[in-house]
Amino acid sequence: MANVNKAIKISQKHLLGIQDLSISDVNIILSEAKQFIGLNKSKNKKLDILRGKTQINLFFEPSTRTLSSFELAGKRLGADVMSMNLNNSAIKKGETLIDTAMTLNAMHPDIIVVRHQDSGASNLLSQKVNCSVLNAGDGRREHPTQALLDALTIIDRKKKIEGLKIAICGDIVHSRVARSNIYLLNMLGAEVNIIGPSNLMPKDIDKLGVKTFSDMKKGIKDCDIVMMLRLQNERMTSSFLSSNREYYEYYGLTPDKLEFAKEDALIMHPGPMNRGIEIDTKLADDINKSVIKEQVELGVAVRMACLKIFCE
Ligand code: CP
Repeated sequence: MANVNKAIKISQKHLLGIQDLSISDVNIILSEAKQFIGLNKSKNKKLDILRGKTQINLFFEPSTRTLSSFELAGKRLGADVMSMNLNNSAIKKGETLIDTAMTLNAMHPDIIVVRHQDSGASNLLSQKVNCSVLNAGDGRREHPTQALLDALTIIDRKKKIEGLKIAICGDIVHSRVARSNIYLLNMLGAEVNIIGPSNLMPKDIDKLGVKTFSDMKKGIKDCDIVMMLRLQNERMTSSFLSSNREYYEYYGLTPDKLEFAKEDALIMHPGPMNRGIEIDTKLADDINKSVIKEQVELGVAVRMACLKIFCE
């Protein structure tokens, strides 16, 4: 915790996607986040690094993990944090994202954290406000802080990412988590296998530097990490699956499929989980294999690091 008060600079004003970051930026964020892990386990979690700064959380889509961890992260750093309740906002009267942004900008926030259903919404917002913008998930495009907390969790357990074989499995086409993780894990030197039914694969998947599999057992063979994804029913405009039961049979993580991964393979899931659809409930809770709770825990540290770095 020696350097938590030291000012840190990186190449970007905003955190809109992993694609905008250099490897040096990523290493700075992860090393800053490591400093907050211990603080978050201690009795006194309060610092005053962001005292006098105003953080606005603007979530147009539901969230448990990302919203609560950004709120806790800001408060632990001493910022004044306002999480907009969009059900009671002028959005309900038809106000646009841009007008909402201009209105909030007039109140001089130092940082806005935004989640929106449209890909590119955080980029648009960043062009309309004076402060830094952190993308907390935009449509199917990117969820950069999720990928950063996933990387921190892997490093915490495996001590490295370079050379690891990592499987990402499930509803890839609708997943901003998959996209951000593919960019970040490739950048950090992992070998990435993408697994899913062909109608849940993005058309441009071959351009992303990954291997693709429709057979889950082949895809997770000898993997160090098996990252499962949620079926995003809310983004499915037509019927993608014949049944949840069939999906579970072919693409749900079960003990017999996990046998194909390395013996010490770790299970990850960004949450929220559909138990019994993409993952066996006992595996999700298996403290020897699953690091899902650790992902949530380290999410606070990563978001503290991002707020500190991008607020300065
Ligand atoms: N992983 C994730 O973004 O979870 P929430 O939707 O709960 O924020």
